[in-house]
Amino acid sequence: MAKIGVFDSGVGGLTVLRELASHFPGEDFIYLGDTARLPYGTKSPDTIRAYSEQVLNFLVDRKVDALVIACNTASSQVAEKEWMGIPVFNVIEPGAEQAFKTSENKKIGVLGTRATIASQAYSLAIQKLSENAEVYSQSCPLFVPLAEEGLWEDPITNLITYRYVQPLLLYQIDTLILGCTHYPLLKSAIQKAAGNSVQLVDSGKAIAEQLELIFQSGKLSRTGKDKGEMHILATDLSVHTQTLAEQILKPLEIHQFEVVHIEPKR
Ligand code: DGL
Repeated sequence: MAKIGVFDSGVGGLTVLRELASHFPGEDFIYLGDTARLPYGTKSPDTIRAYSEQVLNFLVDRKVDALVIACNTASSQVAEKEWMGIPVFNVIEPGAEQAFKTSENKKIGVLGTRATIASQAYSLAIQKLSENAEVYSQSCPLFVPLAEEGLWEDPITNLITYRYVQPLLLYQIDTLILGCTHYPLLKSAIQKAAGNSVQLVDSGKAIAEQLELIFQSGKLSRTGKDKGEMHILATDLSVHTQTLAEQILKPLEIHQFEVVHIEPKR
């Protein structure tokens, strides 16, 4: 029986959950948004690593069978493929592979949080695929607040998006990685700024393909149910967060919202 734990600092990872739950409707999902400590992307690697470990431990205690780190910032600090014996999937490698496959001229742009860009996780993952690939990165610290505020289509979002995307276009990129799970919410503004000749890549679909392979290999078993359950947990749960979550996941059904407290392990 597969119960899949998915986590992000806030509502961004719900863009990954949406893909996974649509792809695997019979499985059970437990999502944790560490909203009380959002954003992760402006924090130091040590803090991001410590928070990520605490969340992973919390989800292991909830008896999940697989862990999906639906946060690029956390993924950039957690390289482990297993946590307490549970398989871990991060968003960086699938996103890098997807972008590499998509790009024809191998000039790839990356948008991400300050921490993700500073870690160079995407550049390293793409250069592992080919040393000749060119990667151009841009940190976008204002995107997460815009996404969390629900300003997905707004003149102010367009303005900020142009500011972040324009410098990358000077390098003739043909593919742009949305290297933060909040950014698919701003997809239409980003596509407008990048132009139609640039392909946008996000990791949700790529992770779903990876999980499909794991199910096929028999390492993880399906529940066999027609309809799984979706539980949304958050370390701080305002009405605003709840409304955004419903909006992002629509038409998927949320079974339960729960506020949780995450204690560092002693
Ligand atoms: N959604 C997270 C990511 O994919 C970052 C959000 C944050 O800065 O907390 O990187």
